[in-house]
Amino acid sequence: MKLNIAVLPGDGIGPEVTKQAIKALQAIALEFDHSFSFTHASVGAIAIDETGNPLPEETLDVCEANDAILFGAIGAPKYDNNPDAKVRPEQGLLRLRKSLGLYANIRPVKAYETLIDKSPLKKEIIEGTDISIYRELTGGIYFGEKQLSEDGNTASDLCLYTRVEIERIAHLAFKAAGSRRNKVTLVDKANVLESSRLWRKVVKEVATEYPEVTLDFLFVDNAAMQMILNPKQFDVILTENMFGDIISDEASVIGGSIGLLASASVGDKYAMFEPIHGSYPEATGKGIANPIASILSAAMLLEHFDLFEEAELIRKAVEKSLLLNITTPDLNTEYSNVTTSKVGDFIADYISNPKDSNLNFNNIHLGQSTII
Ligand code: IPM
Ligand code: MN
Repeated sequence: MKLNIAVLPGDGIGPEVTKQAIKALQAIALEFDHSFSFTHASVGAIAIDETGNPLPEETLDVCEANDAILFGAIGAPKYDNNPDAKVRPEQGLLRLRKSLGLYANIRPVKAYETLIDKSPLKKEIIEGTDISIYRELTGGIYFGEKQLSEDGNTASDLCLYTRVEIERIAHLAFKAAGSRRNKVTLVDKANVLESSRLWRKVVKEVATEYPEVTLDFLFVDNAAMQMILNPKQFDVILTENMFGDIISDEASVIGGSIGLLASASVGDKYAMFEPIHGSYPEATGKGIANPIASILSAAMLLEHFDLFEEAELIRKAVEKSLLLNITTPDLNTEYSNVTTSKVGDFIADYISNPKDSNLNFNNIHLGQSTII
């Protein structure tokens, strides 16, 4: 298959983790005889520095001209600490999601058997957790009208949803549940918010088209608690933009590190694949950023194009790296010399040669080739 991929590495650790995802994709292309092209474009703080615009027109053109987008991370401290900044890196990502109509953000959360002991949560609580979060991505409080009074003392953000916005992602969530464990949990705040009451009403109606799927409801505050108390109860979580943002960071604790969580942002025409973590400025350039979320986002990209065997091989290579403790310091307390690019090299090597007998265990932690 020929796939043209737009690469938007963005800020902070974005470029270094995205590089590892590209290595994995190149190894897949070679193994399966595919042809993948990569066209880079800038977004975020780096784009503001270069052009004054966090999403330059040219970047949007590159995204529209390619089959899929691989996104790194966005954000920089100089903006985080300056509430008066008019132009912000995050606007680049939000505009991108909106312009390309990427209304559904799918975030899988899994407890890896090999990492169970690394999670701060108890083994018996997280073991077997397998959740797919469907976060609405182009509506709600992120995109509602924003106001700041003249005197700067009053501010508001409108949370607005329409029936159509709810219906389209609800259908995706119910379809996904149909091929999983047939359960959708709608997370909302319907005891307080009018927009949440619309979500409940519309999602109940959509549910009638999927009689094999059970629908239940949780208020977001309770859901946040249940996520830590009993995450196994969840199959597909369906929720609005802001609640999905918060609950997915919380859920990442189950996997042992936020550096593991990948996501796909899809719409009717375009698809973008991005780790859920941020730009982690403190780690930039130190080789300590975990590239697995980006590599697993590349696996989701392949799956989007029905390249299931290829995606599975990436996952197998990732699991092998976790099993052998070839991981960055967020997960590795034993070996401090495993860098971002070493994890990427191992995964690409394993894709090209996925046999345990080819692994040179003596070399694995010596910074040498992992393959005999
Ligand atoms: C995410 C991020 C973004 C969001 C930020 C960077 C705007 O936290 O993808 O979860 O809030 O959606
Ligand atoms: Mn987030």
